[in-house]
Amino acid sequence: MDTRLDDAFAAVPREDFLPPDQRAFAHQDRPIPIGHRATNSQPWTVRYMLRHLDARPGHRVLDVGSGSGWTAGLLGWLVGPEGLVVGVEIVPELVEMARGHLGDRFGHVRFEVARQRVLGWPDEAPYDRILVSADGRIVPDALLDQLAPGGRMVLPVDGDMYVLDKDAEGVVSRRKTGDRFVFVPLR
Ligand SMILES: C[S@@+](CC[C@H](N)C(=O)[O-])C[C@H]1O[C@@H](n2cnc3c(N)ncnc32)[C@H](O)[C@@H]1O
Repeated sequence: MDTRLDDAFAAVPREDFLPPDQRAFAHQDRPIPIGHRATNSQPWTVRYMLRHLDARPGHRVLDVGSGSGWTAGLLGWLVGPEGLVVGVEIVPELVEMARGHLGDRFGHVRFEVARQRVLGWPDEAPYDRILVSADGRIVPDALLDQLAPGGRMVLPVDGDMYVLDKDAEGVVSRRKTGDRFVFVPLR
């Protein structure tokens, strides 16, 4: 997995997903503000979450809190053209920004504006993988409902990183990875 992650990070450079005045800081391992109270996440954290998520070629992936579009772009590389990535974001201006950042590099990656009072993007559920880049303080049932049998979700909950696996019968198991993180809140 780590070699694939190296390749994904090389193919989808962070600087392409930053506002022009922040691009010079792309190599710094820290979150970078992108406006609208959002950040482009710290590379170490993105890598950590993607390693736990284990997205594979052909997977259908939901990227909740797609922000700058970087994580969706990385996921687009990891799942390949046989897969699908839907990035959903609550701030319409960030969706526009992410579309611009992505350009025409992946036809199988899309960005959608979250609908009011609807968490995730149920329209195209179920997903094999769900990545959540904002802290909801609980594990939202609405996202668990969008996870396919055999699927996996990685999300921060009250500062802890969780990996949730849904088995073929729909039974969900959860574990903390053991490391703590600070994320913007899931609104
Ligand atoms: C840490 S930032 C995103 C990092 C992003 N994955 C990237 O690659 O740049 C978290 C994002 O979650 C968004 N957000 C917060 N609540 C949300 C919700 N209910 N649905 C969708 N997006 C949400 C915020 O607007 C913010 O852009």
